[in-house]
Amino acid sequence: MSKSEIEFYYKNVTADVIGAEHGITNEQFAELAEQTSPLIIQLNKERKAGKTPYRDLPYSKENPKRIKDLAAKVKGDCENLVVLGIGGSALGNIALQTALNPYMYNIDAAQRRGPRLFVFDNVDPAQLGSFLDWVDDKLDKTIFNVISKSGRTVETASQFMIVRQLLLDKLGPEGLKKQVIVTTDTEKGTLRSIADEAGFKSLIVPDGVGGRFSILSDVGLFSAAMCGIDIDSLLEGARDMDKRVSCEDFYKNPAALNAAINRHYYNRDKKISVIMPYSYHLKDLADWYRQLWAESLGKSEDLKGNKVYIGPTPVKALGTTDQHSQVQLYREGPNDKLFTFLQVGNFDRELKIGPAPECAPELDYLANKDLSVLFNSEKKATEYALLASKRPCLTVVFPEVNAYTVGEFIYLFEVTTSFAGALFGINTYDQPAVELGKEATFALMDKPGKEYKELAQQIRSMTEVDDNFTV
Ligand code: PA5
Repeated sequence: MSKSEIEFYYKNVTADVIGAEHGITNEQFAELAEQTSPLIIQLNKERKAGKTPYRDLPYSKENPKRIKDLAAKVKGDCENLVVLGIGGSALGNIALQTALNPYMYNIDAAQRRGPRLFVFDNVDPAQLGSFLDWVDDKLDKTIFNVISKSGRTVETASQFMIVRQLLLDKLGPEGLKKQVIVTTDTEKGTLRSIADEAGFKSLIVPDGVGGRFSILSDVGLFSAAMCGIDIDSLLEGARDMDKRVSCEDFYKNPAALNAAINRHYYNRDKKISVIMPYSYHLKDLADWYRQLWAESLGKSEDLKGNKVYIGPTPVKALGTTDQHSQVQLYREGPNDKLFTFLQVGNFDRELKIGPAPECAPELDYLANKDLSVLFNSEKKATEYALLASKRPCLTVVFPEVNAYTVGEFIYLFEVTTSFAGALFGINTYDQPAVELGKEATFALMDKPGKEYKELAQQIRSMTEVDDNFTV
């Protein structure tokens, strides 16, 4: 394996390290291999039959061309790029920007390789209002990328309607047309009709690719390309990972191993899966993973229609920050979690710790050390402490965080999710439980229709505040 590739390290879930009660024995690994190996073949077949189109996104020649052509066309005149979307239509954009651009990107022009980027994935009027105050006199230099596969999503639709009116008021119909780019279904849906009618420039959410699997499509790649991220390397990393996660040898396939280990622990009362990056750049990929894992695997029914109420709970923690917030619980609380650390070899820069003040010789041991050495030592220290408490730990090692390794990571965790879904025997790609909340919001917002009227009454009677229970 070339040194620039990410590695999946699983020794610290073995019985040799944490004992047979909580660790996985060689016999158990052999069973996992037996259960999972046929699924590798099955997933490879499904993929060839076109059932999981997200797997082919890294191979598209048209997508990157379309994205780069549009970015080249609009970039010159764009100082601010605003993404309006939610869930799978926002988390990928945030994750790529945090992973691959500097911390001060939006603030410091010298660190910027494109427009400032703002992603709004909520309908908090205080948040959006503050932004609109700031952007008010910069609208002609601001592009709004409205991303929604369906176009019906209430959060995105309402944000768009606010921005549309603002642009119409300030810049008129031509300005509106110039400043909006939509990313939506190729042919159908509300946003596609709006785009066609208004003549907006548009990008595509590919057919058969759900929001949470769409990061490597126009959905996640346009803002990345605009902000100077090398989307070709990102896709190359994903393609190279595809070879590894298609490998039929269980012990050489990091996605199959990862999913099988997660499934093993789920069956043994470790139903919480903590992902803990020791890297600022990787922190929002942990958020992206949380959605991928939760929406894909949290299901009440298996594929045969049996009630199963299944799904590991993904939890995000950040090293070292959460050592001072969560680790007490992680070590001494219930042994009900599997930990996955994300560790970085070379950081994109280094800082030396200065000398200790004379009055504090007890800090001398830190003087002249690299901050990255401290960071990675704390990862090892936390892992050691967890292992001492017999908590299973996995690590994904990034030689460095760059577009290639981030592409590898994204693909690894997408395919891990597919394997986990197959091992749980559920439909990985739907999200029926999210629908009721959406319908209920439509009802409360007076969407026409008898069914909504009745639903609204029902909701009000259940959620009205009862003073007898208020103190
Ligand atoms: O992963 C998913 O399918 C969801 O999180 C969607 O991305 C989210 O609900 C937004 O949907 P849409 O893109 O249709 O606005």
